Amino acid sequence: MVLFTRAIVTGGSSGIGAGLVKVLLKAGVEVISLSRTETDFSAQEKAGNLWQISCDITNEEQLAAAFEKISEKWDYCDLLFSNAGFGISGTVVATQKSQMIKQFDVNFFSAVSVIQSCLPLLRQAKDPRIVITSSVAGEISIPYQAFYSASKASLNMLALALNTELAADKIKTIAVMPGDCRTAFTDNREKNSETWACYEKSEERSISKMEKDERSGYAAEYVAGQLFHYAGKRHPKALYGVGLSYRLLLAAYKIFPIRLTRWFVSKMYG
Ligand SMILES: NC(=O)c1ccc[n+]([C@@H]2O[C@H](COP(=O)([O-])OP(=O)(O)OC[C@H]3O[C@@H](n4cnc5c(N)ncnc54)[C@H](OP(=O)(O)O)[C@@H]3O)[C@@H](O)[C@H]2O)c1
Repeated sequence: MVLFTRAIVTGGSSGIGAGLVKVLLKAGVEVISLSRTETDFSAQEKAGNLWQISCDITNEEQLAAAFEKISEKWDYCDLLFSNAGFGISGTVVATQKSQMIKQFDVNFFSAVSVIQSCLPLLRQAKDPRIVITSSVAGEISIPYQAFYSASKASLNMLALALNTELAADKIKTIAVMPGDCRTAFTDNREKNSETWACYEKSEERSISKMEKDERSGYAAEYVAGQLFHYAGKRHPKALYGVGLSYRLLLAAYKIFPIRLTRWFVSKMYG
């Protein structure tokens, strides 16, 4: 396993990100967390191992100011967890362009901005890693969450390209695809209140099934532990699933004919 000393986490205030903060601190890693709100990790903060910076990653000025502060304190960072994100739901036909843009702004464009901002610090580290919280939905497109799925698929593509582009700097990028996980993500989902009457019932059924699955999903601490585990692999792959059942699901999705796998998705969330 690779040993890390300094990590930046986006979305460390809640859910998987808060789990990551705890896992990293326990492993003796110094952590800087970027999110709009702060969480009470007081004991660790007092010990000087955690610094929470209030920052909306979609705001270019706030992000630049955050990395200016970080660069005054740190001359390298060996681990970046690009984890902040949220989900929208609704039919493709009734989704406004502004909602699509917001989804991509938080989940994809700002993840790119964070990686760009962090690159000078990562380049100074010995064996640096970028770990992106993607989703099973990035491989298996979920109906009524097409734009969330598309934003996560984009992150997978980003991770694959970065591994080639940053190879000379020995920076490895890993996109980790969790499945259902019990976090505030479910309550924070922005549901489109507008829909076409003909799709209303199936949309409602699909989203409430998804919400039920999320609420009985993995604990955030388990997913965070897996993210850290993959980060520390000496020769990591670019893409990972989390948990045996989701890893099998992702493998099956690749092997079986698309007609069959999409039939299965329609049965679950159609
Ligand atoms: N829960 C699941 O079932 C699941 C499954 C697969 C993947 N994921 C992914 O896991 C990641 C973490 O989600 P979670 O489940 O832990 O949900 P969560 O508890 O709602 O956490 C989301 C985090 O993202 C931060 N965030 C959101 N917008 C931000 C912004 N504009 N600027 C800065 N920080 C922002 C939030 O912090 P503030 O509100 O304080 O800004 C919060 O810390 C997301 O990328 C999500 O897509 C979740």
